[in-house]
Amino acid sequence: MEKKIVLITGGASGIGLGTIEYLLEQEDYEIISFSKGEKNIALAKEKLGDNANKVLFLQGDISSEKDCKRLYTEIDNRFKKLDGLVNAAGIIKLGGIEEQTIQEWNNSININLTGIFVLTKTLLPLLKKGKNTSVVNISSMSSEKAGGSIAYCASKAGVDMLTKYMGQELGKYNIRVNSVNPAAVYTNIYVASGDYTQEAYDKWSEEKAPLYPLGRIGNAKKDIAPTIEFLLSDKSLWTTGAIYLVDGGKSI
Ligand SMILES: NC(=O)c1ccc[n+]([C@@H]2O[C@H](COP(=O)([O-])OP(=O)(O)OC[C@H]3O[C@@H](n4cnc5c(N)ncnc54)[C@H](OP(=O)(O)O)[C@@H]3O)[C@@H](O)[C@H]2O)c1
Repeated sequence: MEKKIVLITGGASGIGLGTIEYLLEQEDYEIISFSKGEKNIALAKEKLGDNANKVLFLQGDISSEKDCKRLYTEIDNRFKKLDGLVNAAGIIKLGGIEEQTIQEWNNSININLTGIFVLTKTLLPLLKKGKNTSVVNISSMSSEKAGGSIAYCASKAGVDMLTKYMGQELGKYNIRVNSVNPAAVYTNIYVASGDYTQEAYDKWSEEKAPLYPLGRIGNAKKDIAPTIEFLLSDKSLWTTGAIYLVDGGKSI
């Protein structure tokens, strides 16, 4: 079978990296990663070991139109098409309307929401050339449940509507667009934002576990990646505009 060519944003960390690890085990995917900093790319390569050379790690900012265009050219030159796009790059900064600065708000909306719009729009010519193309947006349980960060919740509510809108609009090209909406997953997101130290985040993760009917917070590779892979694969050819809660039962 011809391998699917799939781009994963935020592939150097957390849910993006867990997805890469899972996809590498399926052997049906040619994987490109696009993430912001060199540091996590080096750490991700170290974690993947010998498998690291099976992934094309590229660096850039999804909220920069220039970087998105550069990415388009790179993929066009090498592969000529894209069969899958996982929009996993994202950030959080805790705070409500009283605490959050306008700059923090703009940053979250630019990366989490506008970034998905700009990147998907830029790559659309390549996605149209793909076979049974699938776009998977990583949204969040916070798209429907207020709490933690006002900009994050608002950005993820926007992502769900992007998913529905693009699902409706792009069906004519046989491009599916779906969202995966996790509750808490153990990643670098809160330490990267400076909201938690690693020690405080580890403690927080343990304390959250009893709030989940399934008794724990999520693991990127084991708990989230299989749903992403299902949506990328030809097992979900009649599914579009859908919002998949994967949350250990937290939202019940
Ligand atoms: N963790 C959770 O509890 C949770 C729950 C629900 C939804 N999510 C969503 O899952 C997605 C992945 O988050 P995560 O938890 O895996 O976080 P993470 O471990 O911090 O990984 C985020 C990745 O996105 C990249 N990134 C951030 N801003 C970027 C930008 N402007 N351009 C390109 N890449 C950028 C980061 O780059 P660097 O490697 O350079 O940092 C990193 O590789 C996010 O959309 C998040 O909202 C997470």
